[in-house]
Amino acid sequence: MPKSNDKQEIVSKLQTMELVTQHLVQPGYLNYHGNLFGGAMLSWLDEGVAMYAMGRIQYTNIVTASMKDVKFKSPGKLGDIIQIYAQIERIGKASVDVKAIAVSNNPQNRKISEIIDCLITYVCLDENGKPFSYFKTKNWESISKKDFAPIPID
Ligand SMILES: CC(C)(COP(=O)(O)OP(=O)(O)OC[C@H]1O[C@@H](n2cnc3c(N)ncnc32)[C@H](O)[C@@H]1OP(=O)(O)O)[C@@H](O)C(=O)NCCC(=O)NCCS
Repeated sequence: MPKSNDKQEIVSKLQTMELVTQHLVQPGYLNYHGNLFGGAMLSWLDEGVAMYAMGRIQYTNIVTASMKDVKFKSPGKLGDIIQIYAQIERIGKASVDVKAIAVSNNPQNRKISEIIDCLITYVCLDENGKPFSYFKTKNWESISKKDFAPIPID
């Protein structure tokens, strides 16, 4: 496992991934000891990566089924920019696994630290809220070649 603050290794891990969202750590997100509250971090991660997945697969009725390997490797601090990167790892029948990495990037000293490196599984649902084998209806190759795009505004 790379050290959470080895810049070269972090940059190389992010090379094939897409920046999907970023957040500024402001005072309201800190816990009592001055570290970024883990619940805020997880919320930003899940929301940003879900939006990325929706854009990539062009389907919005998804739920988070699991977040594997969530370990907080380093703390976010006041003034850090939390950058969240993602990449589709695997497509199943109804599920899609997305690799997600969150890093803290300090704009003043340019220090980068890895916060979380995990795998999030989203499951497509039908109109009754049941798992729906969406990927059987689509050609995954044609989805995977699309660049990340937000859900379009009609
Ligand atoms: C996730 C959920 C839809 C799975 O329902 P289910 O009936 O157990 O699903 P199934 O056994 O039919 O499996 C459907 C697919 O989901 C995947 N899946 C189900 N549970 C999973 C889990 N915990 N982790 C990863 N994948 C999971 C299966 O592998 C399967 O994938 P595939 O179709 O690509 O092969 C259901 O448990 C649920 O609605 N959970 C609540 C989700 C939610 O509210 N999330 C927000 C956070 S609280």
